[in-house]
Amino acid sequence: MKQKTVYSCQQCGLQSPKWLGRCPDCGQWGGLVEETVAVTKGGKALPAAAGAPPLRLHEVSVVGEERRPSGCGEFDRVLGGGTVPGSFILIGGDPGIGKSTLLLQAAERWAALGPVLYVTAEESARQVKLRAERLGVGAGDLFLLAENALEAILERVRDLKPAFLVIDSIQTVFTGGLESAPGSVSQVRECAGKLMQLAKGEGVATFLVGHVTKDGAIAGPRMLEHMVDTVLYFEGDAGHPYRILRAVKNRFGSTNEIGVFEMKDVGLAEVPNPSELFLAERPQDAAGSVVVASIEGTRPILVELQALVSGTAFGNPRRTAMGIDANRVSLLVAVLEKKVGYTLLAQDIFLNVAGGVKLNEPAVDLGVVAALASSHLNRPVAARTVLFGEVGLAGEVRAVSRPELRVKEAARLGFDRCLLPAGNLKNLDRPNGMQLLGVKTADEAMAHLFE
Ligand code: TYD
Ligand code: MG
Repeated sequence: MKQKTVYSCQQCGLQSPKWLGRCPDCGQWGGLVEETVAVTKGGKALPAAAGAPPLRLHEVSVVGEERRPSGCGEFDRVLGGGTVPGSFILIGGDPGIGKSTLLLQAAERWAALGPVLYVTAEESARQVKLRAERLGVGAGDLFLLAENALEAILERVRDLKPAFLVIDSIQTVFTGGLESAPGSVSQVRECAGKLMQLAKGEGVATFLVGHVTKDGAIAGPRMLEHMVDTVLYFEGDAGHPYRILRAVKNRFGSTNEIGVFEMKDVGLAEVPNPSELFLAERPQDAAGSVVVASIEGTRPILVELQALVSGTAFGNPRRTAMGIDANRVSLLVAVLEKKVGYTLLAQDIFLNVAGGVKLNEPAVDLGVVAALASSHLNRPVAARTVLFGEVGLAGEVRAVSRPELRVKEAARLGFDRCLLPAGNLKNLDRPNGMQLLGVKTADEAMAHLFE
């Protein structure tokens, strides 16, 4: 074996024999860092090994994919109904968002199902203990290990044979086999690879905490996301107590499923009825505030959208959107101009999704249009009206998926009027006391709301 120097991009994992200022693959400036790797000579082809022969699909035996629910409903839902033994799960999120808190609380629940090893590579055992005391966590087979050398961790896992393993965080674990610094691409890749072998080999459900970069992606090689079975993001706004756990990849369940939590002084509390929470502080009869019925994963959630449209003080009007794609908002502003006939050219436009929620479903378009119009006209939308529908470039309102779920959730929360795409009205059950208004165009919707 001989040592070779390569430069690898800390963003995307590209390897180059020479140093470059800008990564030719992902375009990151200053991302290439020198690393030494061991190479085997020759690179001879491996002798053909007599592995398992291919099987016909119907011959493959399905080992009962047993799920182990922790009892924390919000977490289990995101995982697809519980943890599958041997699954390899990555949890990313901004620093201080509550990843360690979430996992420590979950670890206590898992401890009732089998031994849990919580490896803290970032904080001391004492710090974790203090947090655990604050959370009232401590009973059962919950083991703590303050260690960041991979070899030592693997050794302990083999000794203890835990059913669940938490690595907090993968960026601070390092293997002695590589010279590069902890957190570098090759370290993260190597450590994650070894941990994955262990997880699959011994059936240990492994949770890795991953740091995120400035623009919110999980730091380290993109590859990490391909290696794991499930990628979860823990998001939220520092200014809000709500936290949302979102699955963006899940080999064992549906993606885009979310779990909602509230950060309290005694840790994270589950929020089984997020709509109620998101609407709790809704102002009464305020222009620019509307409620939309969105679907997150399999669950309908009602969220308040707020718009503020006001004359700009400068020549260049500002367009700001929080919690929703700014390009989508610009597009809807243009539709309002051209198809509904409002003059918004010289207006500053701000749009906000209340409660720090992020919406990325076109079904909220009609709500965005209504919020903008309401603020522009300075006329509130009736308090118990809810909207959903996709708005096209011609100003048409298009049908969206799962209308029945949205309408039902709105009825449950006491809404009595729902504006929805006319195309969604077919075969739709009308809940008692709910008026369903099917609209074909944004113009028609505005007429219902403001006339
Ligand atoms: P932490 O789990 O350490 O975040 P991460 O591991 O994602 O970096 O959570 C840190 C924040 O959570 C910290 O700002 C304090 C807050 N917090 C509470 O509000 N209540 C609690 O019970 C705990 C443990 C933390
Ligand atoms: Mg932490």
